[in-house]
Amino acid sequence: ALRPGGVQDLQDERILITAGPTTTAIDAVRYITNHSTGRMGAAMAEEALKRGAVVDYVLGVDKGVVRPKPPRGTEERLHLVEVRTAEEMAAAALERLPQATGVVATAAVMDYAVAAPSASKLKRASDAIALDLVPSTDVLGSLRQAANGQWFLGFAAETDDVEAHGAGKLKAKGLDFLFANEVARLGAAGQTGFAVGTNAGVLLSAKGARHELALGPKSEIARQIWDLIA
Ligand code: CTP
Ligand code: CA
Repeated sequence: ALRPGGVQDLQDERILITAGPTTTAIDAVRYITNHSTGRMGAAMAEEALKRGAVVDYVLGVDKGVVRPKPPRGTEERLHLVEVRTAEEMAAAALERLPQATGVVATAAVMDYAVAAPSASKLKRASDAIALDLVPSTDVLGSLRQAANGQWFLGFAAETDDVEAHGAGKLKAKGLDFLFANEVARLGAAGQTGFAVGTNAGVLLSAKGARHELALGPKSEIARQIWDLIA
């Protein structure tokens, strides 16, 4: 078993981690986002730091987002940059890709952006309104395209057919590893996924390995993921 201050199996790694939600503005005061709080990314970063890695952490910030707490003595190996939109996240991550040995994409990136955000505040009216949404940047996709030998770990949160969707994304996105977990359906409570401290799921590899990780604190899930891929 690996203990804090124990095995330094990521000493030669500089890991680029994306985490948290991205947001897209509707107008000067309103925006759209998702339920991500960055907890899984923080757990992945803290465990990587513990094992000796340097971590470039690109965090989408919103109310309630959590930042990694570097273990004592690892503070200078954590490089944090905060962004809000998918485009900002892609730019910050691409800038840091060349020095990375691997990429961990835990971010919940908004798949759509508001086509024409209003610089001034929109006023309330009695008519229904429609909001035009256009596809936003695929952060992981751009990183994968610009890659130069880095390994890639993606995350997928699904409400249905978790493992089938996970396996599809592993292949379609050209990743080395993918961790897939279930999220509660709208209106239901869950112990995995967004804004909770625990998770469970399945780690898949491009070589066909498959490991089920039982429900546990996100720190424990992160430890097991690093054990398996380190
Ligand atoms: N991802 C990303 N940029 C996006 C969308 C996804 O970097 N615009 C990354 C996520 O950080 C994650 C992986 O891609 O590591 C899978 O994200 P997911 O949202 O599950 O994939 P999508 O292809 O967007 O599929 P879905 O339609 O299920 O949202
Ligand atoms: Ca998505």
